[in-house]
Amino acid sequence: MTTVPMVDLNDGHAIPQLGFGVWQVPNEDAQAVVAEAFRVGYRSIDSAKIYENEKGVGDAIAASGIPRDELFITTKLWNDDQGFDNALRAFDASLERLGLDYVDLYLIHWPSPHRGLYAESWKALVRIKQEGRARSIGVSNFTTANLQRILDETGEVPVLNQIELHPRFQQKGLRAFHAEHNIETESWSPLGQGKLLDDPAIADIARKHGRTPAQVVLRWHLDNGLITIPKSATPSRIQENFQVFDFKLDQHDLEKIATLDDPAGRIGSDPDTATF
Ligand SMILES: NC(=O)c1ccc[n+]([C@@H]2O[C@H](COP(=O)([O-])OP(=O)(O)OC[C@H]3O[C@@H](n4cnc5c(N)ncnc54)[C@H](OP(=O)(O)O)[C@@H]3O)[C@@H](O)[C@H]2O)c1
Repeated sequence: MTTVPMVDLNDGHAIPQLGFGVWQVPNEDAQAVVAEAFRVGYRSIDSAKIYENEKGVGDAIAASGIPRDELFITTKLWNDDQGFDNALRAFDASLERLGLDYVDLYLIHWPSPHRGLYAESWKALVRIKQEGRARSIGVSNFTTANLQRILDETGEVPVLNQIELHPRFQQKGLRAFHAEHNIETESWSPLGQGKLLDDPAIADIARKHGRTPAQVVLRWHLDNGLITIPKSATPSRIQENFQVFDFKLDQHDLEKIATLDDPAGRIGSDPDTATF
């Protein structure tokens, strides 16, 4: 079976570089979809309270028979659960839905700056980590200013920041800040939600390597040292997205994809202005 490379985190733990995202997988389908991902070889699953499928993910984990220490399970604190006490309660509820006694990674889903609670929430995650109930803690959709604030207030460095990142939105500035602070970058919507797979430059590179556009884009994430979590509910694509460890992009391919970066290429919300 293919071995997925592990990325060392700043707290001594390690995360598989390729994982499996489950946003928009309905709870009733989650057990079967995650079981298929496990069958193919994924061991890292990215869920969240707001995805409303932690129960289905937990059922797949329980049914899999895979030893717990071979899995890497991530879930996230939703925005309206922010604040110290609320975050502790929300974490307990997520663990219960997952049927686990610890998660590998717990993330603050969005900074949600209009609430003014992300620094308090981060202190709750530090507590949860000290209790051993989350092995690692991190954030998602944090800007450099949000990151700087939690560093200043707690000194606790998130292991990673999970952000929108794909060839059309490469986040070079934020990645440089991460590198400076030993924070890993995890790409969400790595395939641009499927929208960038018909890009002519990607299609050319795919033809050259005898690969699919999705495989080229995922290889681009891996070749850039990013952690990534593509989602698919389609068995053939779940497999296709995992078959990316037997080729590499060359310098010319990487330079071509670098030109696709676009400051207006964001698909999801801007964390600074999102009102949820
Ligand atoms: N932290 C955050 O705020 C945040 C936000 C968004 C996402 N995420 C995480 O990131 C994960 C991935 O992002 P995403 O789900 O937004 O988008 P994505 O992984 O970039 O793309 C998923 C879409 O692409 C399609 N697809 C997948 N593989 C394909 C292939 N080989 N060929 C053609 N189409 C393919 C899927 O269709 P089918 O499913 O129909 O096959 C689905 O419509 C999420 O599931 C979630 O875990 C986090």
